Amino acid sequence: MPSDEKFGKHRQHSVFDASRADHLDTRLRRFIYRPARLANRYVKPGDKVLDFGCGPGFFTREFAKVVGDSGRVIAVDLQEDMLQIVRGKMQAQGLLPRITLHQCKPDSINLPEDQNKTFDAAFTIFVVHEVPDPEKLFREISSLLKPGGILFFSEPPFIVSGREFADKIALAEEAGFRHESGSWFFMNRAAVLRKI
Ligand SMILES: C[S@@+](CC[C@H](N)C(=O)[O-])C[C@H]1O[C@@H](n2cnc3c(N)ncnc32)[C@H](O)[C@@H]1O
Repeated sequence: MPSDEKFGKHRQHSVFDASRADHLDTRLRRFIYRPARLANRYVKPGDKVLDFGCGPGFFTREFAKVVGDSGRVIAVDLQEDMLQIVRGKMQAQGLLPRITLHQCKPDSINLPEDQNKTFDAAFTIFVVHEVPDPEKLFREISSLLKPGGILFFSEPPFIVSGREFADKIALAEEAGFRHESGSWFFMNRAAVLRKI
């Protein structure tokens, strides 16, 4: 049954345009979101990490620093232009060898099946409201994660209501996650979900 029948329709928002990518990688954002602290909290050296909807790599960079040379970050975005920005920035910082860039389809992460159960952690930060089929997205992330792996999920409150966020968490639970904790990520809604 499609998610909108179960939980009421939630509007899909337009995709953040790559021409505005600079707004996503600023000192102010670094000060507010403390991406290094987030990475150190949920990622370990050697981990394989999915950064879904990576944009220009604001969080990708910190995940790559933490995973080290023995780990890997798969940075996934719909827009090739975003991935090219990530490539340029990470190359300049010597982090590119730890990162795989992957352009997905609008309605699928579209990673090969042999990637299933290989990820330790996944992040969907400020992106799920732009995705046409969140139910499918959570199912795909659930398949990619190892049992016990975590999904950190965050959405902006001025775009995603509390009700909508709760509905999305329910979809993730149906896809095989346990809702471990809910918290605020600066002033955004956030949840930590664990793959059962
Ligand atoms: C608001 S930006 C957030 C970027 C990054 N997570 C951050 O917080 O800095 C949303 C990103 O998700 C990507 N996106 C939107 N819809 C997507 C989809 N269906 N699949 C993958 N990426 C998508 C956009 O291209 C954009 O780069």
